[in-house]
Amino acid sequence: MSKKWMVTGAAGFLGSHVVEQLLERGDKVVAVDNMGWGIQEHIDPHLEHKNFKFYKEDICKIEAMNKIFTEEKVDGLIHLAAIHFIPDCIKDPSKAVKFNIFGSQVVLKAALDSGVKFLWFASTGDVYKPSETAHTEEAALEPFNIYGKSKLLMEELVRFGAQEYPDRKIVIGRLLNLYGSRETNPHILPEIIGQLKKDINTTLRLGNLYPKRDLVPIHEVARAIYEVFEKIDDGCFTLNFATGVAQSMQEVIDMVGEVLGKKINVETDPAKVRATERPHLQADVTKLKEILGWTPNHDLKSGLTELLKGEGLLT
Ligand SMILES: NC(=O)c1ccc[n+]([C@@H]2O[C@H](COP(=O)([O-])OP(=O)(O)OC[C@H]3O[C@@H](n4cnc5c(N)ncnc54)[C@H](O)[C@@H]3O)[C@@H](O)[C@H]2O)c1
Repeated sequence: MSKKWMVTGAAGFLGSHVVEQLLERGDKVVAVDNMGWGIQEHIDPHLEHKNFKFYKEDICKIEAMNKIFTEEKVDGLIHLAAIHFIPDCIKDPSKAVKFNIFGSQVVLKAALDSGVKFLWFASTGDVYKPSETAHTEEAALEPFNIYGKSKLLMEELVRFGAQEYPDRKIVIGRLLNLYGSRETNPHILPEIIGQLKKDINTTLRLGNLYPKRDLVPIHEVARAIYEVFEKIDDGCFTLNFATGVAQSMQEVIDMVGEVLGKKINVETDPAKVRATERPHLQADVTKLKEILGWTPNHDLKSGLTELLKGEGLLT
């Protein structure tokens, strides 16, 4: 049966894919975004769609958010709105606390009070204590930047809120590193693509290449987000949304070169080297696989081929 969803952060990277897929399924979408980082072109294609409604709104506005929930009577909330890019959070920690904790609490309360049956909260692998091995959901938690701290505190508030509503399906989704089309923040893959688009033979200027990341194709994680609700019982679940495989940024560059059929040279750009960086971030996806019966694809070569084609770098 089709559902009506609110998606916050709908004009962002992940939000744009979630909205597109929900509409394709025949679900209704109430999209909310303050357009701080969101992109208008992510919203425009849906504006005439009968199942789509867009509110340019800030999740920190209590009355406005309560009103939208009361009027729209959505079945579920997919809460993605946040300041996500870690350097932005470090630059403006008050905003990270305001949007990622205060704003999220506003949305959480409004959603639960309005009677939503499904609630998905975007957390992050950055809540884990750094380790060289894959993190299970029970692994030690010890974020070392304001972004991870804000998400971890919000996880606790979601669990706290969920205690009062045992008849709801609530998922705290720990996302690893998403990649694909329509990225809004200057992560390494958009940076590589941007530099190659300017000059395909350029020597890339990048930050550290040693960090290993669990790179998750965006359209697969978007699908996992709504499919999970078809598989879980009532209750509050904390789950990694990842592939279970980690690759270094050097391996990613080598793979881009392989897909493009050329050697890619790189030099270090000191401005892009992060002062503190987690060397290894990888999630154990056993629990997600048990629930969904599948996990996002770790075949980076096919994911990069699709991405580079979409960006016009490959015919
Ligand atoms: N992209 C990743 O690799 C990744 C990894 C882990 C977790 N996450 C989490 O997933 C979610 C989506 O990430 P994304 O990559 O799509 O980020 P994004 O920056 O592209 O999207 C976030 C959206 O939220 C909106 N937003 C921010 N503050 C808002 C506010 N106060 N009111 C209304 N809208 C607001 C922004 O305008 C933006 O469109 C975020 O919560 C992020 O922390 C993403």
